[in-house]
Amino acid sequence: MDFFVIIFAAYILGSIPSALWVGKWFYKVDVREHGSGNLGATNTFRVLGKTAGFIVTLLDILKGTVATILPLLPLFSETTIHPLVLGLVSVVGHMYPIFANFKGGKAVATSGGVVLGYHWPVFLLVIIIFFIVLKLSKMVSFTSMTVAIVGFIYSVVYYFNTGDFSLLLVIGLLSLFIFYRHRENIARIRSGTEPKITWLK
Ligand code: G3P
Repeated sequence: MDFFVIIFAAYILGSIPSALWVGKWFYKVDVREHGSGNLGATNTFRVLGKTAGFIVTLLDILKGTVATILPLLPLFSETTIHPLVLGLVSVVGHMYPIFANFKGGKAVATSGGVVLGYHWPVFLLVIIIFFIVLKLSKMVSFTSMTVAIVGFIYSVVYYFNTGDFSLLLVIGLLSLFIFYRHRENIARIRSGTEPKITWLK
């Protein structure tokens, strides 16, 4: 029973559509009707500006982190479920949210939150790489997929050093999610029509 409750809690956390709610509640704008139409931090930056984008980024990261550390709550202290499974479930919730007709974001920020909650050094690494690649490419989608690969390579090295296969497995799955959810971006990058950000000089 506890097993299902904690899985459900992780899914509900991930399902919180920060981009939709911040847009609707504070700006009276549905970000799904503008920009790329994606319910994510990048589209929030694009449509509503830096403050909203920053808040949605933080909330989306937080969802993954909180889901991953749910077993630390006294309510769930008996659980035997691996924290990374909960993180993975929260990312599924983010991509297919019950509160937004199962049409959510592209898994990037919430995946970052999962690795932050489980093993912060990999989060630090991908954040640094994220800003370097973003400054050079000016494309968040390209940057997101690049850091997914960097995170995966880190997890392979980590596995050979520690024997922890769970991080490798979960980052591998998160990377697959990220690439799958960026199919349209990949097509635009290939055709040279992917929008570039203007706010990072
Ligand atoms: O995190 C999502 C980002 O990589 C792409 O978002 O709105 O440009 O499709 P968007």
